Amino acid sequence: MKQAIFNSFGTTIIVFALCQSALAQQSVTLQPRIGAKLNGLTASQIERFETGKVLYSRPVAIEEGLGPILNKSNCGSCHSNPLGGWGAISVTRFGMENKGAFELYPGESQSLAQSLANSSFCAELVPADATIVRIRLTNSSMAFGLVEAIPDVQLTANEDPLDINGDGVSGRVHWVTPLEAAPGSPLRAGRFGWKAQIATVLSFSSDASRNEMGLTNRFSPIENAPNGDNARLTICDEVADPEDVVDANGVGFIDRITDFQRYLAPPPQTPKSGMDGELLFEQVGCAKCHVSQFTTSTASSLEDSIRSKTIRPYCDFLLHDMGLLADGISDGNAGEAEMRTPTLWGVRRRDPMLHNGSAAGGSFTARVTAAIAAHGPFGEGATSAAAFAALSAVEKTKLVKFLDSLGRAEFDFDGDNIVDILDFFALRTCIDQGKTNPNNDCAIADIDQNGVVNSIDVDLFVQAFNGEILDCNNNGFADLRDIALGVSQDANNDGIPDDCGSCQADASGDQTVNGVDLAIILSGWAGSGPSDVDQSGVTDGIDLAIVLSGWGACP
Ligand code: HEC
Ligand code: HEC
Repeated sequence: MKQAIFNSFGTTIIVFALCQSALAQQSVTLQPRIGAKLNGLTASQIERFETGKVLYSRPVAIEEGLGPILNKSNCGSCHSNPLGGWGAISVTRFGMENKGAFELYPGESQSLAQSLANSSFCAELVPADATIVRIRLTNSSMAFGLVEAIPDVQLTANEDPLDINGDGVSGRVHWVTPLEAAPGSPLRAGRFGWKAQIATVLSFSSDASRNEMGLTNRFSPIENAPNGDNARLTICDEVADPEDVVDANGVGFIDRITDFQRYLAPPPQTPKSGMDGELLFEQVGCAKCHVSQFTTSTASSLEDSIRSKTIRPYCDFLLHDMGLLADGISDGNAGEAEMRTPTLWGVRRRDPMLHNGSAAGGSFTARVTAAIAAHGPFGEGATSAAAFAALSAVEKTKLVKFLDSLGRAEFDFDGDNIVDILDFFALRTCIDQGKTNPNNDCAIADIDQNGVVNSIDVDLFVQAFNGEILDCNNNGFADLRDIALGVSQDANNDGIPDDCGSCQADASGDQTVNGVDLAIILSGWAGSGPSDVDQSGVTDGIDLAIVLSGWGACP
């Protein structure tokens, strides 16, 4: 009898019942995949995460309050990679330059442009004579419950506004008032947005609902007028403000989407630590702004999954003078030349990079190299960008390899965010080599970082695997585990134990030779891997013939 157990994508705590005894022996858990929820949430918190996630990407209708001017109908259409994360869509900000200073365009109440409208009569247009027109790219809400829970004192500890230590890097907190704070409440350290202009997730939900979607709410109750024209607004805005309808418990849309963002997990980092590239990252001064680590607050009001957690965002959440890279727009107390350091967790996913999207396309190496080069000249990042440029080619490769570990899922050798049979083939080459260290690729499978890829890691691989788990020899363990640990032989290297009867033509490993296998052969044509069923090194007519002649259930 065959045991088939499906692992759902992104789920981290999947107990393969047959392997429970093996798992009980170790305490290492998988990191959530990028875009997944925090580990350890309660059932009701998971429900809130899932409900918020649905609303985050559901288009709001005009009758519900969308518009009259807006950029998109839902958060997820910009924060799409993954949902709640980064995006390739940018928004436009405009205004007037006055002797080097930024001023709002006359009559406007804000610099953000709304590019869509419920009707052409209601539309806002960027005035042709605006002298400053800039774009800002969508950044992410990953792990924002944790980021919100970094105590303000941890951010001020990294400030050096007068550059007393003389390293050319200053950095200062942008102090702001949360929209939901009672009058007279103390200022909070801003941390969200390219100008650190917002301190809490709820404030951002409120602000973005009104400014990106035209959905007024209890903390942002006043609708934006198209180009500041209140007469037109009166005609265009048909739904009474505030438009966000709260339920009987006082919970509204902005609270629901706040739940989703607060419970998003930090992007994984694989290997978790110890890369030479991270040392170089520190040596050339990147970590002065891209600060590696914080510990969240111990406040008892916080959820267990958020309280007292060590996080590695590679970000100080401070404002820095970035010279020519900055966008020339002031925002609250943040100056024209100041930008907030972005987090680097998940950076391997990010395309384009930088607030203006100028580091775009090409390979990851090309993109980050362009982003680093853009840190100079004339800004606080200049010294560090120059130090990076002065590294040897080998050192640069190491530093970029470290950046490429930020956002990589465990076992995901090919970096496609899916743990599949190709990653299993790579894992096999790492088993028991005893030479694994954070700098070689086997570290991607050495989850407990003990220097060897062994049964503990293999059990975790089975949990992480995004395909079907089979136990064809019915010995109580996954076939992949049997093969990896040498319990079963797999001479033809197809991921199926030889003691299950060879079914060479079964490229997908589902014990049936059918159209799925044919598709694998055709899509893998001329390459190697599972499509190369005869393991000749190339997928060709012989593999096709094997599949056609083996059609049907495996023996
Ligand atoms: C039109 C695209 C767009 C839409 C729609 C949108 N955002 Fe954003 N989001 C952005 C951009 C651009 C930024 C950067 C803003 C800035 O700092 O100027 C951003 C920033 C953020 C940030 C701060 C991220 C960080 O790293 O600091 C949060 C939180 C956020 N958005 C939440 C939301 C929520 C919640 C919604 C839905 C109510 C939403 N956004 C809708 C484009 C969008
Ligand atoms: C003085 C502070 C500072 C230093 C030092 C610094 N950065 Fe940055 N970094 C920033 C800021 C601020 C931005 C955003 C700039 C913008 O887009 O306007 C940024 C952006 C980036 C980005 C693009 C991220 C994204 O999501 O768009 C990468 C990658 C990056 N930095 C890597 C590095 C590396 C590697 C080093 C060391 C060689 C380094 N940084 C040094 C402040 C700094």
